[in-house]
This record gives sequence, structure tokens and C-alpha cells, in this order.
Amino acid sequence: MNDRSTCTCHDISIDVFRRASQSGAHNVKTCFKAIGCLPKCNNCIPMVRSVLAEFSERTLPAQTTVADTVATSNASHQRGYP
Ligand code: FES
Repeated sequence: MNDRSTCTCHDISIDVFRRASQSGAHNVKTCFKAIGCLPKCNNCIPMVRSVLAEFSERTLPAQTTVADTVATSNASHQRGYP
């Protein structure tokens, strides 16, 4: 676990990155872009990635397996659906 909670180059707290993520930033580049700067030393990138992962885990639906998808597709075909 990365215990960094600030981008020291820009003095940006983890909460600012969280808000950027909640506003639609989906990767490191878009996160910094939403804040209005670019990474300099990249030491905070693991922290930004952990923020993005936190947010995606909370918002994405549970993943289905290929087997689930095939079973659903087969069931639809058996019922005559395309
Ligand atoms: S600590 Fe964030 S770019 Fe350097």
C-alpha cells in the first residue's frame, strides 16, 4: 500500500484526486488534466492509481465471467431471441 497522500510537486492532496476521479477522470493523465497540471516527478503516480482503483471498485458492476456470458447467450438462443 502506498502511504503517500499528497502530490508534493503540486501540493495536491489525495482528496483532490478523489474528486477528479469522481468527476470522470479515468486514468492518471485525465486525473491530472482535470486538476489542471501535469505530473512532474511521477512519485505520486501509485497514489493516483490507487485512488482511481478505489473509485472504479465502488462504481463498476461486478464482473461477469465468460462462462456467464455464454450461458446467458445460449439461454437467449434457446428462447428464440437473437
Ligand atoms: S509528487 Fe506528484 S508529480 Fe511529483
